[in-house]
Amino acid sequence: MKSPPKTFHVKSFGCQMNVYDGERMAELMAADGMVAAEASDADLVVLNTCHIREKATEKVYSDIGRLRKDAGKQGRAPMIAVAGCVAQAEGAEIVARAKVDVVVGPQAYHHLPALVAKAAAGEAALDTDMPPASKFGALPKRRRVGPSAFLTVAEGCDKFCTYCVVPYTRGAEISRPFDAIVEEARALVEAGAREITLLGQNVNAWDDDGRGLHDLIRALDRLPGLARLRYTTSHPNDMRQGLIDAHAQVPSLMPFLHLPVQSGSTRILKAMNRSHGRDNYLRLLDRVRAARPDIALSGDFIVGFPGETDADFADTLSLVDQVGYAQAFSFKYSPRPGTPAAAMADEVPAAVMDERLQRLQAALGRDQAAFNRASVGRCCEVLIERQGKLPGQMLGKSPWLQSVHVMGDHAIGDMVEVELAAAGPVSLTGVARIAKAA
Ligand code: 5AD
Ligand code: SF4
Repeated sequence: MKSPPKTFHVKSFGCQMNVYDGERMAELMAADGMVAAEASDADLVVLNTCHIREKATEKVYSDIGRLRKDAGKQGRAPMIAVAGCVAQAEGAEIVARAKVDVVVGPQAYHHLPALVAKAAAGEAALDTDMPPASKFGALPKRRRVGPSAFLTVAEGCDKFCTYCVVPYTRGAEISRPFDAIVEEARALVEAGAREITLLGQNVNAWDDDGRGLHDLIRALDRLPGLARLRYTTSHPNDMRQGLIDAHAQVPSLMPFLHLPVQSGSTRILKAMNRSHGRDNYLRLLDRVRAARPDIALSGDFIVGFPGETDADFADTLSLVDQVGYAQAFSFKYSPRPGTPAAAMADEVPAAVMDERLQRLQAALGRDQAAFNRASVGRCCEVLIERQGKLPGQMLGKSPWLQSVHVMGDHAIGDMVEVELAAAGPVSLTGVARIAKAA
């Protein structure tokens, strides 16, 4: 038996949906009477975990060890809850291996307060159910958020790319209803959001009775007080013309598209079960650029998928050259238990993967720096999100999702008109065009 926790801390790893889920768990526990605290003081620590690559998963166990050791030095033994995708994938194994108090999956976290109460009473507290009724209806209203907020509109995935655990950890693809999303967006704006990023593992497949993501975006564009809309992550095969047109027509929809390709080799894309090839991906980007010529493109890449040859990798580098991404994420392939690719032959040696990742990241870094340099001289709005490192310096985002440093008396949440004056590899400096009224 442990006494019921009075304070809590949520630590989220991995993707933006985990950030969103972490915020919602915190709101749930606050509604249950608990008070937020630093990890070093909290009676309950929730680790909201990521299973996408092996390294992320292993981190959970080292974190639990460190947490226990640090708390032990202070003579404390906080309750530990493991949430997120590792909880879903490993379930009771986590309890066996790390003796944690609570395990709760991504579709069951609305039960977290009840599970914590069970654990405090000394009972087993594990819930990795994926109930057909969604958790969203059981979550409290959004009350306080920063200027840029996340909103999950779709969850799960039916695509089954052969390397990916998401269909197993997040479950089948579901879209939240139109009205519930608009209501949550309204609450987010009331709670301080000026920008909303719509989230889903396949967000552009969002659908409610024939209405697509572009219809949702057009409705949210009319919300008073909401200045900016973004969405992520999209799948090339779900990129409909209506959404492309929205990029040309909807003022609040930002000129940014994260559209992972994973590889530039059609042969590897087939082995990945991506259901798009190199050429139709490139043609799709041409259509997007025709609608919105200044759009900033982003992607995800995996190097070293089983069977990837030098020629396949050269195709990835040439695709990168052709597209000119504004930014991108790249990873070494990590075999995941239960996925088809984990059983595939022709593993790529670690040294080859390392070398390919370095070359790819050099090419992506070069293109990001070039995109930033080409932005110098542009005038745009920057949404201020936090203080910078220097006194008087604030940090925000351009419409193209670049980090921009701005000097001056600006508050978090301000939309500042700037001229982009200088570019570094990963950020820019903006000069405010109109001095703020005193
Ligand atoms: N190994 C490496 N990277 C992966 N990703 C997904 N699964 C794996 C894996 N098994 C990458 C993909 C995806 C991003 C979220 O993580 O690039 O788009
Ligand atoms: Fe994973 Fe593929 Fe689904 Fe993306 S589309 S979440 S990479 S299975």
